[in-house]
Amino acid sequence: MTDEDLVSLPKAELHVHIEGTLEPELMFDLAARNGVELPFGDVEAVKRAYRFTDLQSFLDIYYQGAAVLRTRDDFAELMAAYLRRAAADGVVHAEIFFDPQTHTHRGIGFETFMGGFRDAMEDARRNLGITSQLILCFLRHLPPEDAVATIEAAADHLEGVVAVGLDSSEVGFPPELFVGAYDRARRLGLRAVAHAGEEGPPHYIWRALDDLGVERVDHGVRCLEDPQLVERLRRERIPLTVCPLSNVALKVVDRLEDHPLPKMVDAGLFVTINSDDPAYFGGYVGDNYAAVAKTFGWDLTRMAELAANSLEASFQARSGA
Ligand code: ADE
Ligand code: ZN
Repeated sequence: MTDEDLVSLPKAELHVHIEGTLEPELMFDLAARNGVELPFGDVEAVKRAYRFTDLQSFLDIYYQGAAVLRTRDDFAELMAAYLRRAAADGVVHAEIFFDPQTHTHRGIGFETFMGGFRDAMEDARRNLGITSQLILCFLRHLPPEDAVATIEAAADHLEGVVAVGLDSSEVGFPPELFVGAYDRARRLGLRAVAHAGEEGPPHYIWRALDDLGVERVDHGVRCLEDPQLVERLRRERIPLTVCPLSNVALKVVDRLEDHPLPKMVDAGLFVTINSDDPAYFGGYVGDNYAAVAKTFGWDLTRMAELAANSLEASFQARSGA
């Protein structure tokens, strides 16, 4: 099996943060264009800083990087670059996270970033044949009232948005804090996902399911610590958006060989493979497929099942409850 065989599998990407696709080269271009000072001398220095010890050590750098994004064209350029790269990996559909609070807190309005995203998404649909939708994420390290205010402010800008999500620092910020924001989002017709069980314990996954009503769990790799939870996820066929190279980069596991993915598949869980923050973790979705196939010795049939899972788990394929 070659990397081209893996590319040829039609797939969806369901767990990618658009701010996490900001390549160092584009970061420097935008910093220069917008007069933003970066704490790095050059692209090589940025890459050297990408040695993470845990989720927080990554997030500190990731939020710094996002500060170079200012204009509608900046957001369009970022989205266009991701969609080009994803299409080259055989992605036919993407459901893409964005963090509005990262931008509104810097005084950048919804119309600026949403307008830029939509310009590029529409262009990629027409010219590359890749479809995409957005998932609006609440930053869980900020107060729950801020999440409610964010969904209120977003209400007039929801074209292209299919769902809400929950991301940023997990431990200490359990899902149930965000019930109000999720209820409001549901009343606006949005669907729901949440990061849970990346660094946080299995009971955060229960709370995401029961209190937030999520239809997919982002990461969810710690579910294996709770057999009852595994049974529920299997029985209800709840998709898990697993990000193998991210889990290595953020030290959720020491090495890819230690990743629980084979156990998750053997347990009958509905898993998909995704990139998370590819510019920071050294691999787009195709690299994640290739690394998984090589490390676990999985053949094209097994990899095709995982690609088919991603299409089936997309909101495009699953009608709402
Ligand atoms: N934001 C961007 N990437 C993230 C991740 N892997 N976990 C939580 N929040 C994030
Ligand atoms: Zn993520």
